Amino acid sequence: MIGVFDSGFGGLTVLSALLRALPGYDYLYLADSARAPYGARSAEAVNEFTREGVEWLFEQGCPLVVLACNTASARALRNLQQLHLPARRPDRRILGVVRPSVEALAGIPVGQVAIPDHTPPSTAEGLVAVLGTPATIASDSYGIELRKLAPRLRLVQQACPLWVPLVEAGELDGAGVEFFLRKDLGAVLDAAGGHWPSRILLGCTHYPLLLPTLTRLAPPETEWLPQGGIVAERLADWLKRHPEEETRLGRGGRRRFATTDDPGWFAERGSRILDHSLNAERVRISR
Ligand code: DGL
Repeated sequence: MIGVFDSGFGGLTVLSALLRALPGYDYLYLADSARAPYGARSAEAVNEFTREGVEWLFEQGCPLVVLACNTASARALRNLQQLHLPARRPDRRILGVVRPSVEALAGIPVGQVAIPDHTPPSTAEGLVAVLGTPATIASDSYGIELRKLAPRLRLVQQACPLWVPLVEAGELDGAGVEFFLRKDLGAVLDAAGGHWPSRILLGCTHYPLLLPTLTRLAPPETEWLPQGGIVAERLADWLKRHPEEETRLGRGGRRRFATTDDPGWFAERGSRILDHSLNAERVRISR
């Protein structure tokens, strides 16, 4: 199975793109809903929770885990890849969402090796933005990667602390929601000297659900980048380039959903994102 980890149900926006692009594989989705949201938690907590989630997925037999969660990718991926895997799981792989998203933000085509000095600005002004949870933005993970891959792009990063709670509460449009979206988009504009970035990356699993409202609040030429499709096309490319990993994946088209909290609540929220009903099981992952 391909393991897909998120703090909650929002990562189903990424899973649904994976299912569209790579439907033949087996998937096991784990939501740590009992401890979500991760976005305002400390780096230590996000590291510990993510390690427990990933270990649980490994124990279930996943050779590859995708961290659909930006906060987990930003805070925990490096530690997991550089310390945990070599010490405890040298035969497993973990991929995150930050690197593929930055490649897309920088306009680097799928499958092309990024050579920083020769990467031209992908937009006229070279001004791009990333929106994310407070933890993701505080980590500067997007800034660090973008400076490596496309140093000539100007990046504005904005934390949007209330967007996840709004989506969790099922509030996706209306005057109250618009107030908070305008507030954070206004901060982006201020930081960018009054110019709209030409590309805005939705660096959080929940934000694609706000896209219909967001597009109404920005000029039509703004290019919004939700991550699902980006992660899916770049995972497909990664699997092509790593046949030794690809052949370890099951291809029975199976789907399994696990959550650390109420499975009924998860299934109800999740079915709205995946557009079909689903069954979830409750699991314990903390040690
Ligand atoms: N999954 C998280 C992310 O993409 C959002 C929800 C949370 O804060 O846990 O950053």
